[in-house]
Amino acid sequence: MKKRRIKVFDTTLRDGEQSPGASMSINQKLEMAMMLESLGVDRIEAGFPVSSEVQFKAVEEISKRVKKSTIVSLARCVKYDIDAAYEAMKDAKDKMLHLFIATSPIHRKYKLGMSKKQILQSIGEHIRYARYYFDKIEFSPEDATRTERDFLFEVIDTAIRSGATTINIPDTVGYTIPEEFSELIKSIVRNIPEISEIDLSVHCHNDLGLAVANSLAAVSSGATQVEVTVNGIGERAGNCALEEFVMAINVRSDYLPFTTNIKTERLYSASKLLESLTGLIIPRNKPIVGENAFLHEAGIHQHGVIKNRKTYEIIKPEKVGRGTENLVLGRHSGKHSFKEKLKQYNIKLSQVQFKEAFSKFQKLADKKKEVCDEDIFLIVSSVLGKYPDGYKLESFRVETGKNIPPSATVLIKKGKKEFEFTGTGNGPVDAIFNAIDTAIGIKTKLENYVIHGVGSGRDAQGQVRVVLKIGENKYAGRGDSTDIIEASAKAYLNAVNRYNFSLEAAKIINKKAV
Ligand code: KIV
Ligand code: ZN
Repeated sequence: MKKRRIKVFDTTLRDGEQSPGASMSINQKLEMAMMLESLGVDRIEAGFPVSSEVQFKAVEEISKRVKKSTIVSLARCVKYDIDAAYEAMKDAKDKMLHLFIATSPIHRKYKLGMSKKQILQSIGEHIRYARYYFDKIEFSPEDATRTERDFLFEVIDTAIRSGATTINIPDTVGYTIPEEFSELIKSIVRNIPEISEIDLSVHCHNDLGLAVANSLAAVSSGATQVEVTVNGIGERAGNCALEEFVMAINVRSDYLPFTTNIKTERLYSASKLLESLTGLIIPRNKPIVGENAFLHEAGIHQHGVIKNRKTYEIIKPEKVGRGTENLVLGRHSGKHSFKEKLKQYNIKLSQVQFKEAFSKFQKLADKKKEVCDEDIFLIVSSVLGKYPDGYKLESFRVETGKNIPPSATVLIKKGKKEFEFTGTGNGPVDAIFNAIDTAIGIKTKLENYVIHGVGSGRDAQGQVRVVLKIGENKYAGRGDSTDIIEASAKAYLNAVNRYNFSLEAAKIINKKAV
């Protein structure tokens, strides 16, 4: 079956950045834009240039650097908004203006104080004005799904006749439901034949948790573009999540005959980058990119997955750029999973040793939420009578301030050995990471750093998660403390310990195992 190509218009840097807590600096926006380009996004809505100097500069920088995706800027039906968008995007290789005005009765009455006639006039006037500067113009009737149908058709017709090259239908308040939205899109296709010459886009918000479902219903009914954000961030409950939309059509291509240009193997990195830039932590159970999305803990599920991953996995984790580690050992895990974990590290135990190790594992699993690889190594090495030691942060001191270059001194212990070093860096966290690297003599690449506050008082805990690349592999680490520098150092050492345990414990175990 011939598949229809859907354009992906990403608005992480505009609508997404409007989420509380998601503001990014110019450099952060640039970094995210480069990631979106490498992900294969067709259009990047880089910001709303007239709204602030930072927004303007970010669009300007992104326009200079991004070459493969079209750069889009938002503007109201106001001439100086259009002028600002043009100025900000003048260096873009390919640019598009996104012009909008609200059309629903409630917005006309309370927000704009404009009649239908005035709105139609404004649309015509501003699209014609923008045509002097732009070949590509997207027009959005804001709150389209709560706009009278006949007026919406008039609005679309006016926009196309004035020169719009994309019509976007926003479900601004996340109000519509899939069948209704599908019917709306079909009626636009039926009643406005000129729409077949241009792009018909949809922009769904997630107030009822239906943004992805509504976007899928829309493409099945004739839409040619979807507006999405990475991790689904955006105003209030957010927008249609890029990774969920893309993987839905990827996995169910039998039912959804569409393709996109997205390189699915980069989805996880894009999600993690946004998480670390904004600090907006994604829930563990978030589809595709959440920590739990490919993990199995229940014994029955683990047994099935060990025999054939497809029993409980509809997507290969590699397909979205994730590791294949899929078994979490906990109190619901059985002997099969424990055996499989040992097999992953090539650990061979006699029957007696296995029995003892499994019983120790069960006791620990009853006390701990999650039994990690270090725990397994410790259990096995205790059965074999030898333990590998981990690095422990014994003490640290950090110096930083206005006009004082950040530096950190660490004292680390591993068994009886002590390691001490003073390092400098761009900030106190960077300084302490540099000090640790030199003290213990390791080379790492910090792939991800996320800090999350737990609690709301002055004694709130900082929870830090890091991902380090050491050699060819990646190791995650966590650390908690009321002091965020200490939490960062602990998370860093936790990741380094995982790496060391996998080397040292495997050596000990394989030497001793029967
Ligand atoms: O949700 C919305 O209506 C918007 C418009 C600016 C397209 O973000
Ligand atoms: Zn929106």
